Amino acid sequence: MLSKELLKEISLPALLLDLDAFDENCKNIAGKANGKTIRIATKSIRSVSLLRRILQSNQVFKGLMAFTPQESIFLSEKGFDDILLGYPCWDMDALIKIAKINQTEKKIILMVDSHEHIDHLQRIALKTEGTFYLCIDVDMSTTFANLHFGVRRSPLNHEEAVLQLAKKIKQSTKLELIGMMGYEAQIAGVGDFMPSQYLKNTFISYLKKKSIPEVAARRTKAIKKLMNEGIRLSIVNGGGTGSLHTTTLEDCITEVTVGSGFYSPLLFDYYQSFSYKPSLFFALPIVRKPAPNIYTCLGGGYIASGATGKDKVPKPVYPIGGKLIPLEGAGEVQTPVYFEDTTLKIGDAIVFRAAKAGEICERFKEIICISNQQIVCRFDTYRGEGACFL
Ligand SMILES: Cc1ncc(COP(=O)(O)O)c(C=O)c1O
Repeated sequence: MLSKELLKEISLPALLLDLDAFDENCKNIAGKANGKTIRIATKSIRSVSLLRRILQSNQVFKGLMAFTPQESIFLSEKGFDDILLGYPCWDMDALIKIAKINQTEKKIILMVDSHEHIDHLQRIALKTEGTFYLCIDVDMSTTFANLHFGVRRSPLNHEEAVLQLAKKIKQSTKLELIGMMGYEAQIAGVGDFMPSQYLKNTFISYLKKKSIPEVAARRTKAIKKLMNEGIRLSIVNGGGTGSLHTTTLEDCITEVTVGSGFYSPLLFDYYQSFSYKPSLFFALPIVRKPAPNIYTCLGGGYIASGATGKDKVPKPVYPIGGKLIPLEGAGEVQTPVYFEDTTLKIGDAIVFRAAKAGEICERFKEIICISNQQIVCRFDTYRGEGACFL
């Protein structure tokens, strides 16, 4: 998608989207829905125009999973509906606004996993005379020997605890239970095809295989328990990009969340069961040449979140053959890149990929879309719209 000539037209640093690859990813992801709908994880996109583009590309894409209350309000004001806030929130101002939005025809569904969350929402609902729609987050992590495989989020790891919380919600006239979510991060967000890590890959694949049926059983048991008590839910959400092929197999699931697969950042190169096309890149200008083989760029220190490690660092991908220098890595304002090739010049661009999907959008105001070696449009990121949530 990239050529030296095209990069010369662009003011650098810049965030670039291969629109053809992005559209192909939308098609491939939609093709794996297996009769479920797909909710878009907005944290992994962070551009209103691109969220709209995904939703318009296929009817299986339905609803958004937002990451902060302020963001869900912003998205609702932009015209989106069916917004599931994927993480609990406590912010009084935002919750008051959400209660008001819920009085219109739009819906923002809040995530809860504790009695404290429910008491807090109940107090605000009474004060504002509003309604909150709720989704219960069930822990999907699994334990093998002493190893905790999964994320530390919800404490609800048994159907009885889920039922108790559901009953408490049902007692309130101001709260309406709509859904249950169980995010199996250890399957959806952990690669099992890392380069030169045969033993680790084998161990992770083994844990994933053991974990998948446990996750399915826990979700099913929780739903059955609720149904036995006459509690029916319209949303049963699970999974992420990395578990689309397993989560969609479960009968009790109504929808799967997907975000990262659309941009397919570096960390999503390392899964055995699927591959999408890398679509999001950033280009930095070479501004110095401290040695014949070293080209120093402006910017580049866009390290991804999560457990710190080499896998969170961006990778130079164009021209081919670039390597970061271990003692400097990707720097706050300067990133040196080593090339065998000594013919690059100051002013040329080096193109990188980030380790994770949406975070890189916080560093740029616009996404320059490229198709057939040409710039075809420019979309604002959240930042470009003056919005900054996390
Ligand atoms: C609750 C929840 N659901 C789904 C996902 C999957 O998102 P993605 O497809 O971007 O990996 C995440 C990612 O962290 C998440 O936190």
